[in-house]
Amino acid sequence: MNLTRRGLLAAGTAAGAGLLLPRSGAWAESGPGSSGSLPRSPAFRPFQRELFVPPTLAPVAPFAATCDFAGADRGQPITYYQLTQRRGVTEIIPGLQTEIWGYDGLYPGPTIRTRINEPVVVRQVNALDTELSVHLHGAHALSGSDGFPNDFIFPGQSRDYCYPNVPAAQDLTDSFNTAWYHDHAMDITGENVYRGLAAFYLVSNVFEDALIAQRKLPGRAFELPLVLQDKRLNADGSLFFNPFQHDGFLGDVMVVNGRAQPFVRVQRRKYRLRILNGANARHFGLRLSTGATFLHFGEDSWLLPRALARNYVLLGMANRVDLLVDFRNAPNEVFLENVLVQNEGRGPEGTVLAPRLKVPGTPLLKFIVEGPTQPDDATLQPGDPVQPDTPILPGEIVATRTWEFERRQGAWVINDKFFDPDRVDARPRLNTAERWILKNGGGGWWHPVHIHLEAMEIQRFNGRAPPPEWASKKDTVILGPNDVAEVFIRFRDFRGRYVMHCHNLEHEDMRMMTRWDVV
Ligand code: C2O
Ligand code: CU
Repeated sequence: MNLTRRGLLAAGTAAGAGLLLPRSGAWAESGPGSSGSLPRSPAFRPFQRELFVPPTLAPVAPFAATCDFAGADRGQPITYYQLTQRRGVTEIIPGLQTEIWGYDGLYPGPTIRTRINEPVVVRQVNALDTELSVHLHGAHALSGSDGFPNDFIFPGQSRDYCYPNVPAAQDLTDSFNTAWYHDHAMDITGENVYRGLAAFYLVSNVFEDALIAQRKLPGRAFELPLVLQDKRLNADGSLFFNPFQHDGFLGDVMVVNGRAQPFVRVQRRKYRLRILNGANARHFGLRLSTGATFLHFGEDSWLLPRALARNYVLLGMANRVDLLVDFRNAPNEVFLENVLVQNEGRGPEGTVLAPRLKVPGTPLLKFIVEGPTQPDDATLQPGDPVQPDTPILPGEIVATRTWEFERRQGAWVINDKFFDPDRVDARPRLNTAERWILKNGGGGWWHPVHIHLEAMEIQRFNGRAPPPEWASKKDTVILGPNDVAEVFIRFRDFRGRYVMHCHNLEHEDMRMMTRWDVV
């Protein structure tokens, strides 16, 4: 028996019954994933190791890329990168060696820093023994470089990904800012990402430049990209992963940038925290242990129209937030903590708009605050403009489609169908806008729904105006049980195959995905 999710899916298909799994869901409920048999990660003392900040990837000399920008590169010089996906060894828990799969053998992978309208080519080399596909999440990407789930890079092969980095329709208000790249190979994304294939892709733009130049936001020296994940380790340090558990993987060790509960030294000044939920199935509800207010000025790939004062943010899987935190009058120790209660892969307790919180929560990262108070060099205030948004207007809408996300036969469907990369479920027309109704069919499951290619603009969440941080551009919207989001979305610049799926990676792998083509 091939002990992979891929093997299981193949077996289900071969059975010819059209069922991916036994009706009883026996694999999920009584297989090796049942809670009784989960290993407990080895114990360790938290906050003993310093935060790892992934290095910025250096460009390589230009190479002949098998790459077609379809006219979207606008004649700008191209920056070339190369990454080899290979095994590496790291210490997630202090003193224990853990094998990971990483971009250049690093977990998290190197950060790519680029600029809007500056084209990039990334040659991805597969030195692993599994199929891969690389998605640039939150980018306005060409179909052939979007990491379509079966555009595989086979072991020993490579693929060139061409990123024009253009804002949609050359509208600078569509400039994306905090993207990330991660594996997207069909059926096995969950395991590939879990083993380490995820990294930041940060794209500067004129609005961000101006805020830094006006000293409203801190410069790069006081910016921390943080990816939050949960892992489970076997006694020998290897990563535990159960491909037969389809509810959603939950770990028992909280990991920031690849290390379990690290610390970071900060000065008494303001810092920009760019936080990504890179977990397979864990949602995070974040606050500071002091309860202090911070500014929230970026949501998913885009900067918000205006800065918001918050003391709590919710991140479903793949969500990002950009926060400005003031340590000037902070005590010597501050923790970033997760206060959301979640004990099963199906989702947290409570509802998306009123989740069950527990204070104090689980500390994820310790800030050791040091030195004298520094002058305020990041003066952004609540309500200050950040990046304008050009809303999609009702008059632009040419079609309405409804998408219902449900459980079926131990796996997952959208509009009653399992994902099939060869079936096209919608054909929106280039340069039009549509209304999509995204519905969670219930059963207690949470589904963070991600749409590729373009931002969605949430019009209504359960019939009401969405909270302000969700009212402009989003690429992943969390649907709790029975939630309904009505979103507007445009389809600009690029034709071809794209997907929408649940970003609970176990649900995605068990077919909660749909292909739609821009025609
Ligand atoms: Cu971050 Cu289609 O995924
Ligand atoms: Cu889901």
